Amino acid sequence: MKQQGEKIAVITSYDASFTTRVEEAGADVILVGDSLGGVIHGQPTTLSVTMDDMLYHMRHVAHARENTLLIGDMPYHSYENKKSALSNAKRFMDAGADMVKLEGAGNGTGSISESIEHIINNDIPVCGHLGLLPQSVEELGGYKVQGREQNAAKQMIADAKHLEAIGVDMIVLECIPSDLGKKISNAISIPTIGIGAGVDCDGQVLVLYDLLGITPGKLPKFVKNFLTTASNNPDDNLIVTAINDYVSAVKNNSFPTSKQSY
Ligand code: KIV
Repeated sequence: MKQQGEKIAVITSYDASFTTRVEEAGADVILVGDSLGGVIHGQPTTLSVTMDDMLYHMRHVAHARENTLLIGDMPYHSYENKKSALSNAKRFMDAGADMVKLEGAGNGTGSISESIEHIINNDIPVCGHLGLLPQSVEELGGYKVQGREQNAAKQMIADAKHLEAIGVDMIVLECIPSDLGKKISNAISIPTIGIGAGVDCDGQVLVLYDLLGITPGKLPKFVKNFLTTASNNPDDNLIVTAINDYVSAVKNNSFPTSKQSY
């Protein structure tokens, strides 16, 4: 899709009913995200989410999914070394995932990069995640835009190239300035999926409950509620219309606007 210039619309899902609706609305990729820690469990961070939690939701989503690519988000502490990373990645695949996602790109022995390489060498496709890494929120000092300084931006571009070089298939870019999202997308040939990373990424991802306006509390700037503007034709399913409006807005570059970007 990147080669053909078609934008990729990614949405999270955590259960069977929503998965059916997300597929009906035409999403390209479903992510069973550890964002379920917030939207399902009501926790302030994703740090309490376990492998058992993730596999429970993965199994239900996989059961309902028909054709859409399905990514499983590896939770905090599930890829601390390459052995545990591979064994947990295999558990996701056994539960129905097509690909797993890991946050970060650190180099060296015992690093995330080593775990990612080990998973890929065992034929499991990997999606990377750079920028704001919710599992490192404590080290980052909160949910803040990343890559604003020149050195941090340079490092992120180098990390993206490194992830591509070791065989990663796709990279989520979270909460970074739009011009950095564009630079990274142009610097690599694998697709970038932005969330608060500007309109020039090769695709976009949103948390389903955020785009439907269900999530309580103050939401990040990059979120847009698509339910408030969905058509109220009585023959339409409003939820499917809202998700489909998001998919169309990603495809025709009308989401995100500068209002949802940094
Ligand atoms: O957990 C999640 O849903 C995510 C996306 C927001 C990218 O990682």
